[in-house]
Amino acid sequence: MSSGRPAQGAREPCAPWSGSRIVLGVCGGIAAYKAVQLARDLTLLGAAVDVVLTEAARNFVAPLSFEGVTGRGALVDLFAVGGAALHVTLGREADCVCVAPATADFIARAASGRASDLLTTVVVASRAPVVIAPAMNDGMYAHPRTRANLAALETRPGYHRVGPATGLLAAGEGSGPGRLADIGEIVDAVGRVLGSRGRGALAGAKVLVTGGPTREPLDAVRYLGNRSSGKTGFALARAAWLRGADVTLVTGPAAVAAPYGVEVVAVETARQMRDAVQAVIDEADAAIFAAAVADYRPGSASRGKVRRSEIGNRWELAFEANPDIAAEAVPCMKAGSVSVGFALEISDLVARAEEKLTAKGFDLIVGNLACEADAGFEADTNRVTILGRDVRARELPRMSKFAVACEILDLIEARLGAPEGGSGG
Ligand code: CTP
Repeated sequence: MSSGRPAQGAREPCAPWSGSRIVLGVCGGIAAYKAVQLARDLTLLGAAVDVVLTEAARNFVAPLSFEGVTGRGALVDLFAVGGAALHVTLGREADCVCVAPATADFIARAASGRASDLLTTVVVASRAPVVIAPAMNDGMYAHPRTRANLAALETRPGYHRVGPATGLLAAGEGSGPGRLADIGEIVDAVGRVLGSRGRGALAGAKVLVTGGPTREPLDAVRYLGNRSSGKTGFALARAAWLRGADVTLVTGPAAVAAPYGVEVVAVETARQMRDAVQAVIDEADAAIFAAAVADYRPGSASRGKVRRSEIGNRWELAFEANPDIAAEAVPCMKAGSVSVGFALEISDLVARAEEKLTAKGFDLIVGNLACEADAGFEADTNRVTILGRDVRARELPRMSKFAVACEILDLIEARLGAPEGGSGG
């Protein structure tokens, strides 16, 4: 399963969650209006979404709105004629129960195991993982009882909390912690539950990803960098997290928002990136080196600002080699782990990628040509060729960077899951 937000770009699977059943519980808070978008996004990913509203939620949003975006009747009544065992069937058939927004009242009832309406009854009857996205006034969220109830829920196996975020609350309420988490984050939390379901080889695995550019200071205000946006590394980190991995993303300054759930270690220079990688590499089950590392740094960076009046018309710089982060890290990896490198080339792609594969000791390498349209730096799509020590070069069509990430993770998963000595590739 390659879960993610609604499909964008070429060759993205358009309904990656088809066959999955989600119960979306909606409670009575002002953020209930956002649950309509959430129901739509989950449906667009292919899941069958049964929305269960509490009585209070109906004061904020109508069941018909959910029917309009899910194509399925929204449910409210525990005692509806013909629905005697509805809570049991819904709970049993669900792959994930997601409650968004979850109010202080719902959290209190769920924490004490009550089954006082259809939603809490489904939660009690279901054995599916539960994703809870609390949203309420900041004072209610800060209340010791609410915190204790949330803590009690979170310690239950299979329960996952998303948010709340800090930001603008209902009109007149100012801002604070209590705002519903970003819808994309809730979708990703559900995606991780669905992606971990099959317990693929990445579920519970430790994955290290390097991403973004590095910046090498010239003086206090200038640096030497490159055009890497960080999109590839971020897509890899997000895709691995969605498959249940514990992901550390060591990244230089990137142009994209950090993926939800991933541990991000922000660095600037190649040497900082090397240190951050070395700190965790021995634990990694898989390491993917997607960063565009500056191979050289100015030999001596000035502490102040270099002035034109001091330099004149010609600024001559000497450069020193930076560490090769991947080449240093791969030999430190534990037995049975998988390493993946990237090769950005301008010609002779396969031959040069093969050279780097051998020189740096990677298991797999992903090559792409810098000069192609809609590929490489800054683009949302890429055209790559993947090869390995025992995998013949496979040229993939242009596809979104998330889809490329899924292809790479399929290969990693096959190798991690292969019996010892098998290539799996
Ligand atoms: N890499 C690294 N540290 C460096 C340089 C590269 O970890 N100092 C990693 C990249 O993240 C990538 C692989 O090595 O996975 C190949 O990077 P690339 O820039 O294509 O090649 P280089 O080794 O830098 O060689 P060249 O620039 O001469 O092509």
